[in-house]
Amino acid sequence: MKTYQPRFRMTKIKPTFGPTVFTLVLGGSVLLAQPTFMRNMHTGPVVMPHTQPMTPVEGTIAVNNQRLRDRLESRDLPNPVPNTTETLEEGEWLYNVYCAVCHGITGQGNGQIADHFRRMPNLSAPHVQNYTDGWIYSIIGDGGFAMPPFASSMNEPERWALVHFVKTFTQPSGQ
Ligand code: HEC
Repeated sequence: MKTYQPRFRMTKIKPTFGPTVFTLVLGGSVLLAQPTFMRNMHTGPVVMPHTQPMTPVEGTIAVNNQRLRDRLESRDLPNPVPNTTETLEEGEWLYNVYCAVCHGITGQGNGQIADHFRRMPNLSAPHVQNYTDGWIYSIIGDGGFAMPPFASSMNEPERWALVHFVKTFTQPSGQ
C-alpha cells in the first residue's frame, strides 16, 4: 500500500523547538540565579561607588579644601623649622643638590647652566633677601616660569630648612 508522503513536512522544524526553549529557560535561570562561580563585577565583592568610601591615605586633601596655596597665601606662613646649625647644614646640602646648578654655589645666579636661561636671579639680591620665608617656600615648591617646582623632590621640613639657608646668602663685598 502506497503511503502518502507530503512534500513539505511542516513539523520538520518542530524537534528543535523543545530543546531551544529548554536551553533558553535553563540558561536564563542560571544567568538570573548567578551562581558564585559566575558572579560578575556587579554582584561580586566589589565596593560600589559612594557606598563604602575607603579611608583616604595620609595627606589627602578633601576636594572642597584648599589644594595648593598660591604665593600670596603662602607669604605669611611662619617657618615651622627652627633655624639651627643642623637646619642650615641640611639646607646647604639640599641647595647644593637642587639649586646650585642654576643659582650658583653662593647664590649669585652663576650656576653651571645659568647661561641657558634668559635671567638667573641672584639669590643674595636685596629683593630676594627681603622675601618672607613663606614666599621663598612657595617659590621652591611651585617653581616659576623657567624654574622647576620642587614640591615632589623635598618634603615640607626640607623645603623650610632650605628657606633658612637661602636667607644666608649675602652680596659679595663691593657690590
Ligand atoms: C633649572 C634652573 C633652576 C633651578 C634648578 C632652581 N631655580 Fe630658582 N629660579 C630659576 C629661574 C630661571 C628663576 C627666575 C624665575 C623664573 O623664570 O622661573 C628662579 C627664581 C628663583 C627665586 C626668585 C628670585 C627672584 O628674583 O624673585 C628664588 C628664591 C629661587 N629661584 C630659589 C631657588 C631654590 C631655593 C632652588 C633649589 C630648590 C632653585 N631656585 C632651583 C631657575 C632655577
